[in-house]
Amino acid sequence: MMAMVARRPRRRSVAPLIERRFPLHLEPALYSIRELYHAAKKAKWDPEKHIPWRSFDAARYTAEQRKAAALSWSRRAWTEYGGMPETPAILIRICLEHNGESDPKMFLCVRGTEEAWHVECCYRFADELGGYVQAPRDPNYQQLFNQGFHRKAFDPAVVVDAYIAAHVAVQRGLELELYRGYLRHATDPVAVAILKRLVQDKERHVTFGWVYLSEHAKSWNDETREEIRAEVIHAVADLELRGYHCAWLVPDDAAREIVAADAMTRQAGLGANSVDEERVILTQFLADARAKFGGLGIELPRFPAGTLGEL
Ligand SMILES: [Fe+2]
Repeated sequence: MMAMVARRPRRRSVAPLIERRFPLHLEPALYSIRELYHAAKKAKWDPEKHIPWRSFDAARYTAEQRKAAALSWSRRAWTEYGGMPETPAILIRICLEHNGESDPKMFLCVRGTEEAWHVECCYRFADELGGYVQAPRDPNYQQLFNQGFHRKAFDPAVVVDAYIAAHVAVQRGLELELYRGYLRHATDPVAVAILKRLVQDKERHVTFGWVYLSEHAKSWNDETREEIRAEVIHAVADLELRGYHCAWLVPDDAAREIVAADAMTRQAGLGANSVDEERVILTQFLADARAKFGGLGIELPRFPAGTLGEL
């Protein structure tokens, strides 16, 4: 199905990552990323204090709705967890790149903390709804979560900008749009409070990705652009169109329990999208991302997406 899409080009041979600390470059260089870092510090919050956990009224929902929402929010915890190892991995990688600007490093330090709060909120809400679920039932679906993004972030053969394009701008970008959808459809006060906080944090995380790319685009040559393009194609075709964020895209219906749970969570106002809503979000997101990459000199192909045709 993915045969039309070009795969990663031949790997370059590269020097291992070693620390050469000086010069440190602590002065601001990427001013808009420095601003995002300051904004993140100002937006600091505490899941314990800022989420109205005590206002959760289980009696508003049927047992079936609570069970469904517990699964939807468990799934969200599984995905959010990915940000915990991934963030320090990108941070270490950028720290080991020679002459790297300090602004992204400072920003990522704060992002790492925010990822913990996201996991905490999703886990706790799932638990209050009826019990956090430890893992997906289907082993193939479980495998989709074991991407080991840190390995790629540490791989000197993958240019940092390609990693940020694929896994921050694209994957986090889609995640943000899906979360905006969850928030639009949520009526429960706890769900609304959590989703508002997560959307605000994710807006900064995604802006970071695009600002970083546009600042660096001037230094790209054809080879770099091709590497970025290949990594973005991989993230879209092999991860997103195989259900990394949209459970209804998981092959062989392996995530059907999540799809069914999300439908009920959506109806109960506990924060989810319907499949039709996610189709629209995904289509729009890919169109927007294609236009933005086009502006950076990277032409993305159309992606074959089963019953959705080409995206
Ligand atoms: Fe997160």
